[in-house]
Amino acid sequence: MLAPLERERDEREMSKRPQDHWGHKARKEGYAARSVYKLEEIDRRTHILKVGARVLDLGAFPGSWTAYAAQRVGPKGKVLGLDLQEFRGSLPPHAQIRTGDVLSLELEKELGPASFDVVVSDMAPATTGHRFTDQARSHRLFMRALEIAEAVLAPGGHFVGKIFLGEDFEAARDAVRDAFEESKIIKPPASRAESYETFVVGLRRKGGSALHASGPPATETPASERAPLPPAGPPRIKKS
Ligand SMILES: C[S@@+](CC[C@H](N)C(=O)[O-])C[C@H]1O[C@@H](n2cnc3c(N)ncnc32)[C@H](O)[C@@H]1O
Repeated sequence: MLAPLERERDEREMSKRPQDHWGHKARKEGYAARSVYKLEEIDRRTHILKVGARVLDLGAFPGSWTAYAAQRVGPKGKVLGLDLQEFRGSLPPHAQIRTGDVLSLELEKELGPASFDVVVSDMAPATTGHRFTDQARSHRLFMRALEIAEAVLAPGGHFVGKIFLGEDFEAARDAVRDAFEESKIIKPPASRAESYETFVVGLRRKGGSALHASGPPATETPASERAPLPPAGPPRIKKS
């Protein structure tokens, strides 16, 4: 039988292994971060990323969600990422990541009259280790992402936002329920079990049912039409 200290160490090692699995898989498949498998799982369960869709990716660095979304929507779609950190990697021509602070973003100036079918946010604050501070900052980023989604989503569009579980969580979820016809809470397997992050998904923005306010409806991406992955470049696996 293991002594208590050894058992604790053993359990810690065990809980790390699944993350090593995701990191290894991301390196092998050419993605910049293991976070990609969180979006993949959310998309698998909700089918929000369709061929031809226009996607806004908030908190996009180092680019794995942008690369994944670009693949799913194909060259007829468009993916715009925004992040505080400058992105220097490569993406297919229909995807780009701009540098900027989402909290102070001037929507009209930055995005013009563009509308989107999907807004995703994997934004996370630089953590302080102080749980309430981190939760409050995460809540602020989540609410800002939702505000932007409400401003730029076409009727029928979808929203995904990351949030750290805390006392404000219910209020955040209620806000999504108010703005969308259906809401879901998804904690993908690639998200560390001990991490208190979770994802709130809003499906079909209220105010209409057509996915596109203008242009044809987006459809399921046939494998043959998916854009190829950008060259992997040096792997930069982010712990998230
Ligand atoms: C977990 S990472 C995103 C990983 C990304 N989804 C991927 O798969 O490659 C969170 C990102 O949120 C960004 N972020 C945090 N606050 C932000 C803000 N106010 N404006 C823009 N980006 C922000 C951070 O710079 C960080 O790159």
